[in-house]
Amino acid sequence: MNFQVPLIAPSILAADFSKLGSDIQDAVKGGASWIHCDIMDGHFVPNISYGPGVVKAAKQSAPEAFMDVHLMIENPGMYVEAFVQAGADLISVHYEADHHLHRCIQNIKKYGLMAGVVVNPATSLHNIEPVLGDVDLVLIMSVNPGFGGQSFIQKSYDRLRELSQMRDKGNHGFLIQVDGGVNLKNAQKVAEAGADILVAGSSVFSAQDITARFKELQGKLG
Ligand code: DX5
Ligand code: ZN
Repeated sequence: MNFQVPLIAPSILAADFSKLGSDIQDAVKGGASWIHCDIMDGHFVPNISYGPGVVKAAKQSAPEAFMDVHLMIENPGMYVEAFVQAGADLISVHYEADHHLHRCIQNIKKYGLMAGVVVNPATSLHNIEPVLGDVDLVLIMSVNPGFGGQSFIQKSYDRLRELSQMRDKGNHGFLIQVDGGVNLKNAQKVAEAGADILVAGSSVFSAQDITARFKELQGKLG
């Protein structure tokens, strides 16, 4: 898969599900190469979103897009295969959700997918240090997971810089992703703090013209 960072990954959580395919296509027309899928189980986070069936439908409506699956569920290891079958290219699991994180990461990679680890705002980055050499991506949550449309937590800028330094120091190759509250006002600053992949839900899909809004947001990244 060929993509240039920094890039905006639209989160379909904020799309209109009655016309999901055309909303996704509108983002792709604007240049979106990644599609971010938020899976919520009502246990790990206080909200329920959708499962592998919707990921499969999203993939079908944009077969050329890179499917980025963010699991906000308990026992993520149990569901890896279902999301592989649905067409995921990357599966990210929360540090806080899995007692056997290392095993889960290896399992995702065994299927030939990229594997990511996610940290909630209250989780110290040092907790994931042992797996930094194993993952393809680290996702820093810039809101508490569960809902779209929340405000970016300011402390996340420091955390992005800290993770960037950890990557340099350890000579690691993982991508840095950030998720929650990214908008036209802060996207440039977020990228400058070290984010390679900026997830954006409501700021893309609440626009009248999704294609134009995607281009505008991506344009903020230079
Ligand atoms: C939050 C999700 C995010 C969310 C982002 O739990 O992981 O991906 O959809 O939405 P916005 O961009 O609206 O904050
Ligand atoms: Zn997400």
